[in-house]
Amino acid sequence: MAEEICLFTKDTLIIKPPKRPPASLRMLVLIFAMVCGVYIFSVCLKQTNIHTNTKFLKVEVGNQRRCLDNSIDRSQIPYLHYPNPVSFNRNECACNPVRLFAILSMQRSGSGWFETLLNSHTNVSSNGEIFSVKERRSNVSSIFSTLDTVYNLDLFTSASKNHCSAAVGFKWMLNQGLIEHHKEIAEYFNERGVSVIFLFRRNLLRRMVSVLANSYDRYAKLLNGTHKSHVHSHEEADTLSKYKPVINSTSLVMDLKLMEKMVLDALDYFSSTRHIVLYYEDLIKNPTKLREVQEFMGVPKMELTSRQVKIHKGSLSEHIKNWDDVNRILRGTSYEVFLHTDYTS
Ligand SMILES: *[C@@H]1O[C@H](CO)[C@@H](O)[C@H](O)[C@H]1NC(C)=O
Ligand SMILES: *[C@@H]1O[C@H](CO)[C@@H](O)[C@H](O)[C@H]1NC(C)=O
Ligand SMILES: *[C@@H]1O[C@H](CO)[C@@H](O)[C@H](O)[C@H]1NC(C)=O
Ligand SMILES: *[C@@H]1O[C@H](CO)[C@@H](O)[C@H](O)[C@H]1NC(C)=O
Repeated sequence: MAEEICLFTKDTLIIKPPKRPPASLRMLVLIFAMVCGVYIFSVCLKQTNIHTNTKFLKVEVGNQRRCLDNSIDRSQIPYLHYPNPVSFNRNECACNPVRLFAILSMQRSGSGWFETLLNSHTNVSSNGEIFSVKERRSNVSSIFSTLDTVYNLDLFTSASKNHCSAAVGFKWMLNQGLIEHHKEIAEYFNERGVSVIFLFRRNLLRRMVSVLANSYDRYAKLLNGTHKSHVHSHEEADTLSKYKPVINSTSLVMDLKLMEKMVLDALDYFSSTRHIVLYYEDLIKNPTKLREVQEFMGVPKMELTSRQVKIHKGSLSEHIKNWDDVNRILRGTSYEVFLHTDYTS
């Protein structure tokens, strides 16, 4: 349409008037033609801009129109994507819908283990802690462009399954720009149909032990001089759990309160998204929970496996150096339950 207008004006400008009208009238016509020209040129320019901005969207919508058939549950359409990656061709899986997800969690809450479980699924790519890279979260626009890259299947990590991914996502820690820019991010999730998987730990005292031990190992490097956050053998787990952190008893209750508040805030900020709330303890105790997760993610159900081994097993009293202080301070508070809850393994 815009192109037609451009051609049309070119033609009319060439047409010469048969008789010579007075100079002032000629001047007026010339000015009028110039103004028209500038206007039409700017309209054409604007249209090309719009065209490039919506290119990505158009491609996806085009694919969707081509791929959707009547067997698909219409209520699922906002969550089904047909990405067209720049870096490769989806080939035979081009018409397999892809669902987008994000695991919102906190450090040392089992999300590393949870991701290895998800990635053992043939059709799931969970790309790790992509926002641990500071530049990717330095402002909302770099957050959005990182998200666009992941969800268009153009980010390559060891977890990428490319062609036949049916669900693509990553894990995002609350302190990695997520709480800071929660408003814009929740809008993005809702606009793009991203499903949110909250993963938290009920026992925040155990989380605290894990955080302290992990940050100690960052420089102590207990495993033959390498720092490891996750391990694959019981020997390695035993070596790491030999270190017993001292918990600051002065700030303990305050620290637990702050952790709790962060979780509640996150649940509140992202309550408008399509979401599921998981607890690490439930996933460990109840294997059927993983079927529920796969159902939520809309992927075919499979047996999920992980080679990771838990580091701090057994009673918490064995893992805290100043256990007596901690015990005394938490007794009688709402956090007392953290002292006793245990894992069977
Ligand atoms: C956002 O951050 C990126 C990466 O740090 C930077 O290149 C870009 O200029 C920033 N944009 C704005 C609008 O601040
Ligand atoms: C899962 O991946 C396999 C091949 O890796 C593919 O044949 C199948 O269509 C995929 N399933 C879905 C639901 O995308
Ligand atoms: C550390 O090195 C020793 C000797 O080389 C080896 O026997 C042991 O298995 C290693 N331990 C770990 C945790 O890699
Ligand atoms: C324990 O926490 C208190 C209050 O935050 C702080 O003043 C103190 O320095 C901390 N003690 C240690 C050993 O870190």
